Amino acid sequence: MPVLSEPASLLQRRLWVVVGKGGVGKTTVSVLFGLWAAQLGKRVLVAEVDGAGRAAWLLGAEPAPLGMARAVRPNLSVMSVEGSAALAEYLRLILPVRRVLDVVFSSRIYQYFVAAAPGLKELMTVGKIWYEAERVDAETGHRMWDLVIMDAPATGHSLQYLGMPKAAHEVFQTGLVGRESQRLIELLSDPVRTAVHIVTTAEEMPVNETIEMYHRLCSDLQLPFGFLVVNRLHNRRFEADKLLRLRDRLAHLPQSERAIAEAVLDRALEEEGWSAIHAQYLHRLSEQVPLPRIELPFLFAEEFSSQHLGELVAVLAQQIAGLERASRPHGFRSARDS
Ligand SMILES: Nc1ncnc2c1ncn2[C@@H]1O[C@H](COP(=O)(O)OP(=O)(O)OP(=O)(O)O)[C@@H](O)[C@H]1O
Ligand SMILES: [Mg+2]
Repeated sequence: MPVLSEPASLLQRRLWVVVGKGGVGKTTVSVLFGLWAAQLGKRVLVAEVDGAGRAAWLLGAEPAPLGMARAVRPNLSVMSVEGSAALAEYLRLILPVRRVLDVVFSSRIYQYFVAAAPGLKELMTVGKIWYEAERVDAETGHRMWDLVIMDAPATGHSLQYLGMPKAAHEVFQTGLVGRESQRLIELLSDPVRTAVHIVTTAEEMPVNETIEMYHRLCSDLQLPFGFLVVNRLHNRRFEADKLLRLRDRLAHLPQSERAIAEAVLDRALEEEGWSAIHAQYLHRLSEQVPLPRIELPFLFAEEFSSQHLGELVAVLAQQIAGLERASRPHGFRSARDS
């Protein structure tokens, strides 16, 4: 059975995992979630897994070294996470003697082990996310982050990441690995602490992958769901007879105006075409992926500026508020209530 979530409870979870097919907008949506939650007063970390530091670049900052947080806005930090760096960080925590560490890191056996051990990279990555989600600030005694957003790699790979603690636990039921993987499973599968959001575009391949991913997450991994985010939507419908009339009149226009009118007509036809395709796939998603849905428009921009991000955050906020109203009487609580 799927672990479906009340939209109202989502903001209280402290680990959000953002998954989806390659290139659909996972990093963009993770950053939008981050900006939105930070505006509500949450202290947020966006952790980009195996990425190119795009989350930081999007927010106008240079990425910090792997595994280090960089504050990019009030309440919002970003981090790049990668398995072997996470393993090194973990060893530094449990082997504080520098000399021993240097010997370990420089040994060929260690290098070989990190490169070859199946699933180690994935396990350490999820371990690092767990560490950040549970991390307590030594000075204040409070949790470091109210919300950690894991920007996961593309679908197949993220299933490997999310499934690794379970796989490791089946192999090593006791001992250090058994214990650590059990803690990761507990966090990932806890509907009080975790929500997995799926991002897609309304096109054939991403929708097929979304449906498959949804079933895998329900049946194999049994993780608690969050939102389905449909990104880059075209949603402008034109009346067909108006477009036809415009086409008929093109021949009668003076040369100087015809080129512009033709370009307008082409854009309108293209927009209409995409909107029709997207409407069809939205319908398919409604039937097959029963999650609270957020729809984000396609923005025409070569590179996203703060203003573009702001526009999308406003849409996101509005849609989440709509879902919140629909799920009353519970409603979302703001950070100040928690
Ligand atoms: N709403 C949108 N409108 C227009 N372009 C968008 C929108 N959302 C994302 N994009 C663009 O889509 C591209 C892919 O976005 P993004 O890098 O967030 O995807 P991703 O799923 O993280 O990719 P990857 O799997 O490579 O990590 C980027 O060029 C981004 O600017
Ligand atoms: Mg990405």
